[in-house]
Amino acid sequence: MREVDIPVSSGYKVLIGSGLLSKLGQETAKTAGNAKYCIVTDENVAPLYLEKTLTSLRSTGAEVLGFVFPCGEKNKTTATVLRILEFLADNHFTRSDVLVALGGGIVGDVTGFAASVYQRGIRFVSVPTTVLSAVDSSVGGKTGVNLGGLKNQVGTFWQPSLVLCDTDTFSTLPDEQFASGMAEVVKYAAIFSEKFGEKLLADFVLPDVIAECVEFKRSVVVRDERDTGLRQLLNLGHTFGHAVEKISDNFYFHGQAVAIGMVMAFNVAVKLGVCPESETAKLVQLLRKFGLPRSAGFSRDEMLSAMQSDKKRSGAKINLVLPRKFGECFIYTTDMSALPDIISYAM
Ligand SMILES: NC(=O)c1ccc[n+]([C@@H]2O[C@H](COP(=O)([O-])OP(=O)(O)OC[C@H]3O[C@@H](n4cnc5c(N)ncnc54)[C@H](O)[C@@H]3O)[C@@H](O)[C@H]2O)c1
Ligand SMILES: [Zn+2]
Repeated sequence: MREVDIPVSSGYKVLIGSGLLSKLGQETAKTAGNAKYCIVTDENVAPLYLEKTLTSLRSTGAEVLGFVFPCGEKNKTTATVLRILEFLADNHFTRSDVLVALGGGIVGDVTGFAASVYQRGIRFVSVPTTVLSAVDSSVGGKTGVNLGGLKNQVGTFWQPSLVLCDTDTFSTLPDEQFASGMAEVVKYAAIFSEKFGEKLLADFVLPDVIAECVEFKRSVVVRDERDTGLRQLLNLGHTFGHAVEKISDNFYFHGQAVAIGMVMAFNVAVKLGVCPESETAKLVQLLRKFGLPRSAGFSRDEMLSAMQSDKKRSGAKINLVLPRKFGECFIYTTDMSALPDIISYAM
């Protein structure tokens, strides 16, 4: 088992390893005493892991209930949060009780948000079951739901009291979903460490790789807990990636779109003369290894209109994360008027 400490305002541990789910009860009992638990999960994850999670928590003598909601972004809403809050109230949950988020990033975001507002905030434990949620959303304390078709419009900063990641759960992920999570893993290599990228090219041990990503995320989160600057580095590939997701009407999974977006960011950096062309090959080699796409074939005009409509909400400047080389990135700020050129460079 790997253990990473996240020393933010209310610090917590991230435990990563094979077979950890059965130890959840034992681990939560260390911090939560004889609390009552509500496991929140979605309809895909429930048949796979809910019983095991219930059993593990009940093994300590705790009272444990389950709450299951339908999958997908369209259910990451205030309505789902309200249903959870009502369920907690109906079952007399108090401030000393605990929510457990069992699932991917959607379950984590919804559950964290519910935990942060129920009785002005109760503890929650995160049990990520997707690669994306393990390396990204379960660490950092951002919670949230969508509103009026816009992503993450309502949310809070609320830290989990424990994150427990059983890497065995990834074995049931559909291949594209696994690959999509690996795009975020490759992203950490591209931002922070060429050496980590080399490790990914070799035969690696998955729990070690997940732990290393959590450490990369920790390194920015502890310096920018409220996401006011440095965390932006983690957006490598995301500005272009969001446009790809949008144009394809979510045909591409998030990580697949980020993979394409990262290639675009490298192309831009090469054209601007801030990154040698040979660096792009290192990224492409890794994306290939994980079966990730490198281009979407959309036109410059499609990209431009998707990015312009995205920018309407956030002002006249555009921030792009660009590489200086594979393993080192910086934030490049330019005027929106430069966007057509930037997109030409990206293609
Ligand atoms: N809070 C943050 O900091 C943060 C960061 C990044 C992303 N996010 C959010 O995370 C969400 C995406 O997360 P995601 O990619 O994990 O999506 P997700 O939660 O939708 O999970 C992907 C799919 O896999 C299924 N699934 C989950 N675990 C499984 C398993 N072990 N076996 C089989 N199927 C399984 C889910 O039911 C779902 O259908 C987005 O809403 C995004 O906004 C949040
Ligand atoms: Zn992402």
